[in-house]
Amino acid sequence: MNKATVSAPGKLMLLGEHAVVYGYPCIVTAISQRLEVSVSTIDDIPMDRRFIDAAIQAWGDGKDYLFSIKSAFSGKYGFGSSAAVTVATLKTMRPTVENRVLFDAAYKIVLDVQGIGSGFDVAASTYGGTLYFVAAGKIIEPLSVQEVPLIVGYTGVKADTTSLIKQVAEKKEKNPEKVERIFQAIAKLVEDVKPRMLEGDWERVGKLMDFNQEYLRDLGVSSEKLEALISAAKKAGAWGAKLSGAGGGDCMIALGSGEKRDAIQKAIADAGGQVIDVQPNAEGVRVEI
Ligand code: MEV
Repeated sequence: MNKATVSAPGKLMLLGEHAVVYGYPCIVTAISQRLEVSVSTIDDIPMDRRFIDAAIQAWGDGKDYLFSIKSAFSGKYGFGSSAAVTVATLKTMRPTVENRVLFDAAYKIVLDVQGIGSGFDVAASTYGGTLYFVAAGKIIEPLSVQEVPLIVGYTGVKADTTSLIKQVAEKKEKNPEKVERIFQAIAKLVEDVKPRMLEGDWERVGKLMDFNQEYLRDLGVSSEKLEALISAAKKAGAWGAKLSGAGGGDCMIALGSGEKRDAIQKAIADAGGQVIDVQPNAEGVRVEI
C-alpha cells in the first residue's frame, strides 16, 4: 500500500464561468485552503466516496485502499472539493506523475462521476497558481500574476452546479443566438483581462469583472443574496465584484486595495455574507510526506 500523503488546493473562478463549458476560456486561481488525502484505516470518510473509488479503480493495483481526508475548507463553499479529492487521491498512488497525465486522468474521473464540467477546477488543483484555461484542458496557461487583492464572501447558500449548468443549457436551447452572444462577450472579457492581470492593473480588472457579472445576470444565474453582497462590496469601494462559479449561491469575489479592504469586508458581513480568508495563486498538488 502506498503511504503518501498528498494535498491539493481548492479554487475560485475569477472570470469566464459557464461560457467555459462551451469551449470559451476562463481564468481560475488556486486558493490557499487545501485538501489532504492520506492512507488510513478510518472508515468514516466525510466526502463523496465516488470520486475516491473511481480514482482507486483507475490507478490502484487491485488492493483495498482506505483513505482519510482532511480538508481546510467545507464542501459547501464551492471551492472544488470533488476535483481536489480526485487529484490528491490519484497522486497518492503515483506521487511522481506528470501534471498533464494527472489532469487528464482526474478530469476523466470527474466527468464519469459528475457527468458535466469544464475541468477548470481539476486544473487549479493540479497546477495551482492562476490559470488561463480552455475547456477540457485544451489550453492550460499559467499566468504570472502578483498579489491578487481578492476578497471572498460566502452567501450561506450551497449552489447546485449541475442544475445551474442545465438551466443555462435550456436557456441556450430556447435562445441560442442571444446566449451565444453572451458567451462570446464573456470570452472577450477574459481575453481583455489577461494582460491587465499580468500588469497588476486591478482597477481595470475590477471593471471587467463588473461587466462579467452583468452577463451572468443576463444568463439568469445570479441570486438576490449574491447581488446584495456584490452591491455592498462595490458601495464600500471595491474596484469590481461578481459571483464566482456556477452562481445561485456559493461565493462572490471582490477586488479592493489595502485601505479599503476592511470596509469592503465589513460591508459584505453587514449584508449577511461570511467573509472567508483566502489567499489566491496557491501552489498546486504536492506530496506532503
Ligand atoms: C462552476 O463552478 C463553473 C461552471 O463554469 C462549470 C464548469 O466550468 O465546470 C459553471
